[in-house]
Amino acid sequence: TTTVRVSPAVLGFTAVPHSLADVAVVPQGYSVTVMTRLGDPLTAATPAYANDGTDTDFANRIGDHHDALHFFGLSATGTPDVNSSTRGLMVQNHENITEQYLHVNGPTTVGGARPMAEALKEIECHGVSVVEYVDAGNRKWTYKQDSTFNRRITPNTPMSFHGPAAGSSYLVTAYSNDGKAGRGTINNCANGVTGWNTNLTCEENYAGYFRRDASDNALRTPRELASLQRNGITSTTGNNRWSTASTTDDRFTRWNATISSATAPATADFRYEPNQFGWVVEIDPFNPKSTPRKRTALGRFGHEGAFVRIATGQKLGVYMGDDSRGEYLYKFVSTATWAEADANASDRLAMGDKYLDAGILYVAKFNANGTGTWMPLVYSPTFPVRPASGTYPAYTFESQADICVNTRFAADALGATPMDRPEWTVGNPVTGEIYLTLTNSNNSFRPVNGTDAANPRSYNDPRGASNTAQTGNPNGHIVRLREDGDTTSALTFKWDIYLFGADSTDADPVNVNISGLTTANDFSSPDGAYFSRSTNPAGQINPVMWIETDDGALTDRTNCMLLAAIPGRVGDGGAVTITNTNGGTGTQATIVGAKATAANLRRFLVGPVQCEITGIDMTPDGRTLFVGIQHPGESGATATPSSHWPYTQDGSTPAANVRPRSALIAITKNDGGIIAL
Ligand code: FEO
Ligand code: CA
Ligand code: CA
Ligand code: CA
Repeated sequence: TTTVRVSPAVLGFTAVPHSLADVAVVPQGYSVTVMTRLGDPLTAATPAYANDGTDTDFANRIGDHHDALHFFGLSATGTPDVNSSTRGLMVQNHENITEQYLHVNGPTTVGGARPMAEALKEIECHGVSVVEYVDAGNRKWTYKQDSTFNRRITPNTPMSFHGPAAGSSYLVTAYSNDGKAGRGTINNCANGVTGWNTNLTCEENYAGYFRRDASDNALRTPRELASLQRNGITSTTGNNRWSTASTTDDRFTRWNATISSATAPATADFRYEPNQFGWVVEIDPFNPKSTPRKRTALGRFGHEGAFVRIATGQKLGVYMGDDSRGEYLYKFVSTATWAEADANASDRLAMGDKYLDAGILYVAKFNANGTGTWMPLVYSPTFPVRPASGTYPAYTFESQADICVNTRFAADALGATPMDRPEWTVGNPVTGEIYLTLTNSNNSFRPVNGTDAANPRSYNDPRGASNTAQTGNPNGHIVRLREDGDTTSALTFKWDIYLFGADSTDADPVNVNISGLTTANDFSSPDGAYFSRSTNPAGQINPVMWIETDDGALTDRTNCMLLAAIPGRVGDGGAVTITNTNGGTGTQATIVGAKATAANLRRFLVGPVQCEITGIDMTPDGRTLFVGIQHPGESGATATPSSHWPYTQDGSTPAANVRPRSALIAITKNDGGIIAL
């Protein structure tokens, strides 16, 4: 086939204004189809979702909190077909739950304990779904309820460990005495797609699900205690109080209560269960019976996403953010060089063994002069000791498995650059440049005297304590980088700042509008990011980049949104000096053509009330855009939900007690054209 190159892409739609309505708003000339929603059945035998809190069996239903997604094309014979735009398997993450809508009267306790049936329902609402979708003609998308490809992967699905930490003592639990088996995945946030038709799902905020009480401290070595604290495994109840349920599942419930001493028998010992989470997990969507593989070479932290860059004749580069305040950007480089024939391998997870188990994990250091360094996290007896600081004692590494499990400590030891919450990573398919969304920070982490070139904004609000949410860098920014030599295995790179979030109409002093945003394109807290696939005209030469928001600072003015942008190249903007009237200064702010304009940045979608805009993908032909709508009405009450979406999407007014549902939507252009052009 001949690839038709068009240049340059232009944004061919009218910007969507701010909206606080309880619908997903798209530009004129576009339509929204609500696809699968929380609870929709995934087998022929599963009853329809009642959505009144009585539903059960979420291991056979769509999960909650739709997050990252990818459309894997499917041929007529059920094999991978990367060119199919009419039939495919959607792999979508279900990151979390809106607990109050899952039970008849909201979450209950019995004698202070959660009923096990409620805990199980909530557990099974987490994980990943693999669902078949078909275009019945003219972009009339439906899902196939009885497809044999449909699958739910939950926190109870058996998994296996691979790479340097597999089989190490760090991963031994009562479930896996050899440290090679794992059970389930949780808090699956963003994703990655390999070159061999598998999906990477990323375990982000796993830490909060585990309960530790004070008595656990006495059972721990100082090293273990430091590791638990550094990774945030400090909850005394565990999320959703699953720990109080009378239980058959000691991990999330009384996950350490059965340990009577540090030498308790392995059969009862779940001490290291938290080490089994915080990984990138590879799933073969085309083989529903396959066991997902946790890839330990990619490190353990609050994995947001794992963008895989594949270039002919190069090693694979996997770019990964760790989403917490002050965490880092990582890159994994495979030992193996990409072989085109592997794209069609039939044993897909064996390709993951080849490319994702052997390689070098690096962490990024951003220098003030616009250069950067990738620092290898490779064990040797002389690997730096993580110095003592705060409540942590000094931490000396003992193996590569240790570095893989305690990746944050290893990155600390090398002096990596703490960032303003690294969310998604994504690569421009044409230039190979990598974009990293930095969603926001606050003043306790990023005080005005604690900025650096890559995280140059921090503000104090002179109006005082009532405005404490409006401090630090509440609107976030997007950094981009170009590898030296344009190779995935480069040890150095150039970087700049592509875009700064801002509330363009707010006189609040934190809203310094460096990128010159207007009401047609202002945004806050960038999170999801995506490039149109290079197989369609919006993804060629000067491709369309998509930015999704998860915002707290602009939601007084508009619900969360999706924007489309025409990116430039690293270094093509002008330097801007930031002057902070409250005391901090920063430099090194550049943007396409120096400023965002209506031509190169435009709002494409605004979601319903209290939602976050999450996953995103297009069909290979660019004519359908899939988007995840996560947690509409998340702050509402069981009997009086604050959103009724998606029941509002067709313009109707549901009864006041109708519960909202996270859902996947398909957006098409009424004339059948390429999205955004
Ligand atoms: Fe799950 Fe950092 O977003
Ligand atoms: Ca996110
Ligand atoms: Ca976020
Ligand atoms: Ca605001």
